[in-house]
Amino acid sequence: SQTIRVGLAGVGTVGAGVLKILETNGDLIAARCGRRIAVTAVSARDRTKDRGIDLSGVAWEDDPRALAVRDDVDVVVEVMGGANGAALETVEAALGAGKDVVTANKALIATHGTRLATLAEDRGLALAFEAAVAGGIPVIKALKEGLAANRIDRVYGILNGTCNYILSDMETSGRAFELVLREAQALGYAEADPTFDVGGIDTAHKLAILAAVAFGMPVNFDAVHVEGIEQVSAEDIAFARELGYRIKLLGMARRRGDGVDQRVHPCMVPLGAPIADVDGVENAVVTEGDAVGRTILVGRGAGEGPTASAVVADLVDIARGLRLPVFGQPVGTLSDVAPIDIAER
Ligand code: NAP
Ligand code: HSE
Repeated sequence: SQTIRVGLAGVGTVGAGVLKILETNGDLIAARCGRRIAVTAVSARDRTKDRGIDLSGVAWEDDPRALAVRDDVDVVVEVMGGANGAALETVEAALGAGKDVVTANKALIATHGTRLATLAEDRGLALAFEAAVAGGIPVIKALKEGLAANRIDRVYGILNGTCNYILSDMETSGRAFELVLREAQALGYAEADPTFDVGGIDTAHKLAILAAVAFGMPVNFDAVHVEGIEQVSAEDIAFARELGYRIKLLGMARRRGDGVDQRVHPCMVPLGAPIADVDGVENAVVTEGDAVGRTILVGRGAGEGPTASAVVADLVDIARGLRLPVFGQPVGTLSDVAPIDIAER
């Protein structure tokens, strides 16, 4: 029962959360996987920053790519962010060096996921990204495992905690959009560039990943129609309420003929619908499978603890020796489906 040794690229909100969970729940996690999971090396930009966590005994690398070639690293966890640059180079270096990879980076997977999956699967490695979609909700595992018997016809939900936090607050407090956004940033919910949240791009990244896993198709972020919540006013929310609706930013993907329609935009959700009462940083993912019918998963979609929970769950899979196909079926068998043209929606 050898320890799984982790190189942690990024020690911000999510990275710090991973260190804390492995410290607090190390024994129960070890009991579940039959081996310990330990961070042996980390990388971040600023070595002098006080992160409120004890990094003594952990090696430091200024360049995250160096984690990939360390002899004391078995798995690289990438929690830096960004679709390209250091995140992409670190993941490529890790897979190239024969190391399993866990990432929370939806921008990276939505942009390069299919190619990176090929790299991983050709080498028999894991590329796991549970934390990339809906934070602490285990929706990727649900689609790949618990729902594996089903043809999925529709998957949709509230996929961005920052937007749901803002929309919920606008309804109850009447505080200004900018103020609530700053609060979501301070709580560690928002992206480094929060226009990705409020502009719907983050939801679109997650939807493209969900659709790939649900429908067995290559990730096609460019086919997602995207509108954010910047134009939603407190008056819109109040009028919707009067009419018996709440406004939620939804990501929705469904089969239509031979194609898959993927869209992100604010929606009027009828009061009483299961996702209408999902508030604050919570997310919800609804799936419709031909055998199971509808399933709904609800939980916190952003923040340190929920996101790190999903990252560590991927590490537990690796420690247990579980290496499922990256998108639920071998990447070579993913079949292109025609994106539905916006004019046909
Ligand atoms: P964050 O708090 O900004 O942390 C990013 C970390 O990466 C920091 O430690 C930063 O170093 C380090 N970093 C950035 N660029 C680097 C580089 N070039 N070289 C070395 N280190 C670098 O971000 P976060 O909220 O933890 O998010 C990390 C990832 O998780 C992103 O992909 C995000 O989309 C995803 N995610 C976040 C959440 C959430 O709720 N926060 C949820 C799901 C997924 P310094 O600390 O020195 O600046
Ligand atoms: N910025 C993202 C959100 C983080 O608010 O949902 C979780 O993916």
